[in-house]
Parts: sequence; structure tokens; C-alpha cells
Amino acid sequence: MFQLDNLQHAYDGSIVLRVESWRAAQGEQWLMLGPSGSGKTTLLHILAGILRPGAGSAVVAGEDLATMPAAKLDRFRGANIGIVLQRLHLMDSLTVLDNLLLAQWLAGAAQDRARAREVLAGLDLADKAEAKPHQLSFGQAQRVAVARAVVNRPKLLLADEPTSNLDDARCTQVLELLQAQAAACGATLVIATHDQRVKSRIPNHHVLGAAA
Ligand SMILES: Nc1ncnc2c1ncn2[C@@H]1O[C@H](COP(=O)(O)OP(=O)(O)OP(=O)(O)O)[C@@H](O)[C@H]1O
Ligand SMILES: [Mg+2]
Repeated sequence: MFQLDNLQHAYDGSIVLRVESWRAAQGEQWLMLGPSGSGKTTLLHILAGILRPGAGSAVVAGEDLATMPAAKLDRFRGANIGIVLQRLHLMDSLTVLDNLLLAQWLAGAAQDRARAREVLAGLDLADKAEAKPHQLSFGQAQRVAVARAVVNRPKLLLADEPTSNLDDARCTQVLELLQAQAAACGATLVIATHDQRVKSRIPNHHVLGAAA
């Protein structure tokens, strides 16, 4: 599903990330582990096509993200990648349903209200479709962010620290939710985390070390 080779990334000339090789097959579930500052968010952004790799190759869904033209990259990201960031970035002026329809539009997909409502129902949010994000509890807003990430049936589902600041019960819930949603789309799942509680729950681990 993706294939990283000799990947490096630097900010302002200092290398913060090195990945010799990492291959993930379609449908596999992975944890990306490493201490704070080891480059987890940076690598997640590279996998999502938000950030270009500084050096090396990143092939996702058969496409080389280092060389793909920017306009095509936006479309590619919308159609293939679902991402749940630590800050949820929901559009507060739009309803929950419209946040999902916007994600479809940004992906260049046809508007599919039935799909959006189906995803919301699957995440126990059917009665929140017309609510605004600020009217939701944190857990509900987090589920909306997951709904938005999966509405286009991504091939790759990424989540950045989705369980930090959550109690044990909620941590398990969010993890199971991401795993179930990834499985439902047949997506490869990558969760970046330093949360030791989740280690035993996902079999494949990629550990980032000190970059230098
Ligand atoms: N936009 C940026 N400009 C300059 N340096 C940055 C930028 N973003 C991140 N860095 C640096 O790159 C390194 C890796 O950051 P990154 O956010 O990828 O780490 P992380 O593993 O996600 O950390 P955490 O667990 O704290 O979220 C850090 O040293 C950080 O200071
Ligand atoms: Mg991070």
C-alpha cells in the first residue's frame, strides 16, 4: 500500500526524520512509535501528501508523492487518504453533515448524502447530522473527525495521537473505532502515538528513533 525508502526530512537544514525502509500492505494495521520530536507527525504528513519528503522515495497507492504535481496531489489526497489530526480541524460554521459533504467535494467526488449519513449512523452520530461541531462533546467531535476521514473510503487511514489525553475506556473505544473503520474500507491504518497503552493492540510497529 505504501513503500518508503531512504526517506529523510529536514526543517531549516536539520534532519528530523530518517526512514531506511518501511513497507505496508493493503489492509494492514500499524503503529508508528517514537519519542516526542522523533518525527511522527512529520512522517504522517508525508504519507498524507501534505508535506513533500526532503529526500528519498515515498510511494503511496502506487504513486510517487515526491514528484506528483501539486494539483494532482490534492485530488489524490482527497480520494485516497483519510487523516485524523490531533486538533480535529472541523469547520465550525458548517453542520456535521456538511463537514462530510465538504470532504467529498474536496476529493472531487460526487456529493453522496446517503454515504455521509451512513457513516454518521455507523459512528452513532445520526442524530447529530445537523448539529454544529461546537455543540458536540469532545468524544462526539472526535467521531465526526473519524467520519470525515473515512467518508471517501480511503485506502490509507492515518491518525495522529488519537488517544492521548483520553482515559483508558475512551482510549480503547477510539482505537477500536479506527480499526473497525479501516477494516470496513479495507484501508491500511497507521496510528502515530507515544501512548504505551495501545502497543499491544496493534500487531505491526514501526519505531522512529533519534534522527541524527
Ligand atoms: N514546521 C516546522 N519547522 C521547523 N521544525 C519543525 C517543524 N515541525 C516540526 N519540527 C521539528 O521536527 C522535529 C519532529 O517533529 P514532529 O512534530 O514530527 O515530532 P513528533 O514525533 O510528532 O513529536 P510529538 O510526539 O511531540 O508529537 C521536532 O524536533 C520539531 O521541533
Ligand atoms: Mg506529533
